[in-house]
Formats: sequence, C-alpha cells, structure tokens
Amino acid sequence: MGIESSCDETGVALVDASGSATPRLLGHALHSQIEMHQAYGGVVPELASRDHIRRVLPLTDTVLAQAGLPLSAVDAIAYTRGPGLAGALLVGSGVACALGFALGKPVIGVHHLEGHLLSPFLSADPPEFPFVALLVSGGHSQLMRVDGVGRYELLGETIDDAAGEAFDKSAKLLGLPYPGGPALSRLALQGDPQAYKFPRPLLHSGDLDFSFAGLKTAVLTQVKRLAHASPEGPATLHLADPLNAQQKADVAASVQAAIVDVLVRKSMAAIRQTGLMRLVVAGGVGANVLLREQLGTACAKAGVRVHYPELHLCTDNGAMIALAGGMRVQAGLADDGPVGYPFDVKP
Ligand code: KG4
Ligand code: ZN
Repeated sequence: MGIESSCDETGVALVDASGSATPRLLGHALHSQIEMHQAYGGVVPELASRDHIRRVLPLTDTVLAQAGLPLSAVDAIAYTRGPGLAGALLVGSGVACALGFALGKPVIGVHHLEGHLLSPFLSADPPEFPFVALLVSGGHSQLMRVDGVGRYELLGETIDDAAGEAFDKSAKLLGLPYPGGPALSRLALQGDPQAYKFPRPLLHSGDLDFSFAGLKTAVLTQVKRLAHASPEGPATLHLADPLNAQQKADVAASVQAAIVDVLVRKSMAAIRQTGLMRLVVAGGVGANVLLREQLGTACAKAGVRVHYPELHLCTDNGAMIALAGGMRVQAGLADDGPVGYPFDVKP
C-alpha cells in the first residue's frame, strides 16, 4: 500500500510488486485539493493537512474495495516521507505507521521524487535500467542517471526555480488559476510561440543545471510593457487585465516554448554525456503536451527510447509511492523507513 500526502493531493493505492512480473496496480484513489486552494492562488499548508486527515482513511477503504482485498492482505505500507509540507507529510506518515503497527507489517518511508522517478514502471511500456531521468515537478527540476532501484546519480538540477514553478508563476502573472501549468499550456494552444523571445538560461553553460527564475522576471516585464501600451492602461485589478486574449495566449505560448526548449536540450545533453539510450520523464510537468512532442522528435532523431508514466500518474498520486515501496522491498532496500514506527518525515 502507498500513501501520498506531501502537498495538495491525497493518494492511496495498492500495487502488486511481488515476483518477477511487471508491477500491477490493484487499486488507486486520489483526492485533489486544487479547488479548495484555488481561492488563495496557491496551497495553504494548514488547510492541506486538515483535508488530508479527512480524506486518507475513506480513500484507503475505497482502494481495498477496488482490489477486493482485506486490510490484512497488505504486505507493507509505504508513505511519502518527504520532501513536502511538514504537516501534510505527517498525516501520511502517521496513518502508515499506525496501520503498520496494528498489522505488524513493515512501514517504508519513500522519497517523493523516487516515486515520480519509478512511476513509468506502472505503464504499458515500462523502461529498463539504466536510463536518464528528467524529473520535472512543481518543486524540482533534475536530471539523474538511474542504474537501478536506489542507485541514482544527480547529473544536474535547477539552481533556483523548478520548471513547474516557472509555469505556475508565469500563469499567475497572466491571471490564470492555480495550478498554472495545465492552464498555461491550454492557453498556449491559441498563441504564437515566437511572438516574444524569452530567455533560455544556462542553455550553453556546458553543465546540466537549469535556472528558471529569470524567466519569471522576463514575463513580468513583457506583461507590464503590453499593459502600459494598451488603451486601458495598467491601472486595473490584475496586471494582465489590459492585455487582449491574443496577447495573453502569445505570452503563454512563448514562455512554454522557452521552458520546453531548455528541458529538451538539457535532456539530450544528458543523453550524450552518459551515452545511455533511454530517457524517462516524470513529475507533473511531464504531462505537458509540447514537452512530450518535442522530446519525442529529439529522441526519435537520436535513436533514444523515451518513457513516460501513464498520464494520470504524472502528477502526485499514491500509486507511485506504493510502487516505489514495493520495488524497494524487492531490491532489499526496505530498511529506509522508520524503525519501531516513529512518525518520521523529512520536509
Ligand atoms: O509532480 P507534481 O504533481 O507535484 C510536485 O511534486 O510538485 O507537479 C506539479 C507541477 C505544477 O507546477 C503544475 O503546474 C505542473 O506540475 N504541471 C504542468 C502540467 N501539468 C502539471 N506543467 C505544464 N504542463 C502541464 N500539462
Ligand atoms: Zn510530485
């Protein structure tokens, strides 16, 4: 069983990772808090923790009913130990430890990013080790070399904002609702990606690091410029209000193009550097259609196989945590969790 509660999704799932066959999803339930946080323009940690408490046990019941299994059939319980919001993480860890203690079953604390990283193993086209992984979520942007379960080498990462953060902050500047990534990419469909030239930071830095903080400033400058030039002027409720629909769509398309361009080029540089011919893309930004298209083209040209999680498992969920826990047990690495069931989180 896996429990995810690091941020604004409560996820519970059951995965069969026993034996040598491909791991199988037996049950999977998710409650998204997005609507609740939308009014505040971002996640309110205290509200998140309280909602996780409300949802986690009913979701556990749902998942057991889906799988047609009693609680006693669960062999081990994995939970997201971190990174994430401390109070939110404590809910998952508390429930996992209580269940583990009651059932006499092992409890495994899983790193949230390991969950994302391994999530493509639940897809119809699972990868084989070794591979390069592009991990792009709301909090992280990393390139890793992955040689097996627990064998991860960091090749490069963001020195400031994450890719998802760049999507979210740009979306906010355009007056789009939280979470900004999906909203911005929908708006971008109507825009011209070449309308505005946004920076591609660290593209020629020679390493595999990212930087996205400057992009937000560039978008802010562009939106302000357009707002001042508009007949309505800048003095409206939201900075982007004076922009017409086409201008907003053009900014969205141009910023998306800049983020995707950097992610694709750095991923291909990581492929060249490692000599590996397999790429795994995971994390919420991995759901981005333009990123998938452009990586698809670049990888096909280079003869590289690219693997994604199922679309519904790109963003946070319990299945990836159950899977990572199960794969750790299989690899003999399950001793990562708390000993004697203390509440153990690493925000
Ligand atoms: O992995 P995730 O669900 O949560 C974290 O661990 O952070 O990723 C959430 C991030 C958010 O920044 C969200 O805007 C972004 O993923 N995201 C997208 C898309 N779907 C989610 N960004 C761009 N395009 C999308 N389609
Ligand atoms: Zn995540």
